[in-house]
Amino acid sequence: NSNKNLEGKTVLITAGPTYEAIDPVRFIGNHSSGKMGFSIAEEAANRGAKVILISGPSSEKSNHQNIELHRVTSAKEMFAKVFEYYENTDIAIASAAVADYAPKEIAQEKIKKNDDSLTIELVKNPDILKTMGERKTKQFLVGFALETQNEEENAKGKLQKKNLDMIVLNSLRDEGAGFKGATNKIKIITESSLTEFALKSKEDVAKDLLNFIEEQISK
Ligand code: C5P
Repeated sequence: NSNKNLEGKTVLITAGPTYEAIDPVRFIGNHSSGKMGFSIAEEAANRGAKVILISGPSSEKSNHQNIELHRVTSAKEMFAKVFEYYENTDIAIASAAVADYAPKEIAQEKIKKNDDSLTIELVKNPDILKTMGERKTKQFLVGFALETQNEEENAKGKLQKKNLDMIVLNSLRDEGAGFKGATNKIKIITESSLTEFALKSKEDVAKDLLNFIEEQISK
């Protein structure tokens, strides 16, 4: 029973974790399920948007005719795919849990357990969302923040540092919230507002989010 308020809009969404290869069989990853991003994609598609969904490894599926799904593995692949589409995007929503660091070198062969200790040097990944902020022309830009301390101040800091229009704060302190489960509890922060929502299913969180975005872009 969705509205069709996003007809004619292109919405780009990043979702899921990224996997950063260590050797041919191992990687550094995280527990992001991709469910939040896929739920937002589904809801935006129901509202008539053309959705470009760029996801790291996730078991979520999508076959909505308005969703063009691109599966990627690493942060660098996600970065490259995002900027194939960013210029023509009206609304960009970065819900992916991108790895902050990747191994400096990927071993060509499986690393053997010959030594008692092993050091893997990591180097910083590109910040996809920050780069979107730097390249912003017409895009309404939405980020996520998962904080464990000074949540609101840190989220507000990211809003400014990454040149975002709004940031969605998930608190790890809230039972049932975060990036693993089926529910989430969010706060939406803009330059001039803070709005708190109740704990709900990620499908309903997606509705709240898109209602909020629609209201912002109609201003
Ligand atoms: O700075 P931090 O990683 O906490 O910011 C989280 C936000 O930035 C999320 O929206 C996430 O998708 C995005 N991000 C990104 N590329 C990175 C790191 C984070 O797009 N390399």
